[in-house]
Amino acid sequence: MRYLTAGESHGPQLTTIIEGLPAGMSLLEEDINTDLARRQKGHGRGRRMQIEKDMAFIASGVRHGLTLGSPVALVVENNDWKHWTKIMGSEPISAEETDDVKRKITRPRPGHADLNGGIKYGHRDLRNVLERSSARETTVRVAAGAVAKKLLALLGVQIASHVIEIGGIQAERQTLSITEVKDKSEASPVRCLDENAEKKMMDAIDSAKANGDSIGGIVEVIVEGMPAGVGSYVHYDRKLDAKIAAAIVSINAFKGVEFGIGFEAAHRPGSEVHDEIAWDKDRGYYRKSNNLGGFEGGMTTGMPIIVRGVMKPIPTLYKPLQSVDIESKEPFSASIERSDSCAVPAAAVVAEAAVAWEIASALLDQFTSDRMDALIQAIESQRAYAKDF
Ligand SMILES: Cc1cc2nc3c(=O)[nH]c(=O)nc-3n(C[C@H](O)[C@H](O)[C@H](O)COP(=O)(O)O)c2cc1C
Repeated sequence: MRYLTAGESHGPQLTTIIEGLPAGMSLLEEDINTDLARRQKGHGRGRRMQIEKDMAFIASGVRHGLTLGSPVALVVENNDWKHWTKIMGSEPISAEETDDVKRKITRPRPGHADLNGGIKYGHRDLRNVLERSSARETTVRVAAGAVAKKLLALLGVQIASHVIEIGGIQAERQTLSITEVKDKSEASPVRCLDENAEKKMMDAIDSAKANGDSIGGIVEVIVEGMPAGVGSYVHYDRKLDAKIAAAIVSINAFKGVEFGIGFEAAHRPGSEVHDEIAWDKDRGYYRKSNNLGGFEGGMTTGMPIIVRGVMKPIPTLYKPLQSVDIESKEPFSASIERSDSCAVPAAAVVAEAAVAWEIASALLDQFTSDRMDALIQAIESQRAYAKDF
């Protein structure tokens, strides 16, 4: 299964084309819209989120509520487009208009793709870079992820996400079922399971905003119900944990990833890291702990997958940072466009989508099928086989 996305932040629409879904899978626009709304919530989001109320339109590949096996195209319109037709239109414009310095962006923002993207593609109007490098693109990644999540749900695989740290405030660990994680994180304005930390996180966001600053944090994604032995150890590009790691770090502003106890493993002896193997007739094989977060040798162990991603603070600051104008080469203080002061809660939803996509693709790669009923059967039989192996 694969997908591409297209669309600029202030263009007419965002689009994704998903290829490789089996036929006969139930899919409704509301399956996708629920996740699009989740991405727009969260304490600390800026004004753009009030302008846009994202809604997906299924433009192809689904008939009467079921996938056809043909490409599924999803479209999310940008409601703000009417104000950007002149600046972002596809039609050629006159030389005078091109030279209009008011329109041209020549001041790269630190922490964004602006300067490197300009150098790479030869764009001297940096809007040509920032329109696509903007995290607005994560809207359609969430849409594609929602489709993957629908597939996973039908295969008995559940996924949830929550925020474990914002601006240095850490949530206390909770022992909750995956359903409780979903419900509790959904009810929290910062998607946090710990109510004490939640309040402190909101205060930290408010004070960052008041100071013209921004803060980052850490999100966690949990996947339950994966059969053992998905992924592979035989080649670097078939390791499922590696694919998930790449997907997480590909999200705008994500700078690190870990599985299970992650970086903590560097501080412990092996006897306190590796998960002992056990078997009983109800569960089949299981691990007595899950320090390695559901992976050994690039393959699923059948234990929950636990993956965390680190998001840097939003780079656009009301408190200006120093940069250099690419026309005059003069220094200046980077000015702001409207911006979030913290997008960690929204980024948890994006991370969930990214992980869902990788897991669903891995299942389809391994249990390849053009029909949903055959896919369900193949995965059920893998579960039974792995249990009594
Ligand atoms: C959900 C989400 C929302 C974001 N919102 C903003 C924003 O409002 N302002 C901003 O400057 N950066 C925002 N970012 C981060 C930038 O898009 C990102 O830092 C930038 O594209 C540079 O990419 P890099 O940080 O991966 O190098 C957001 C990221 C995510 C995941």
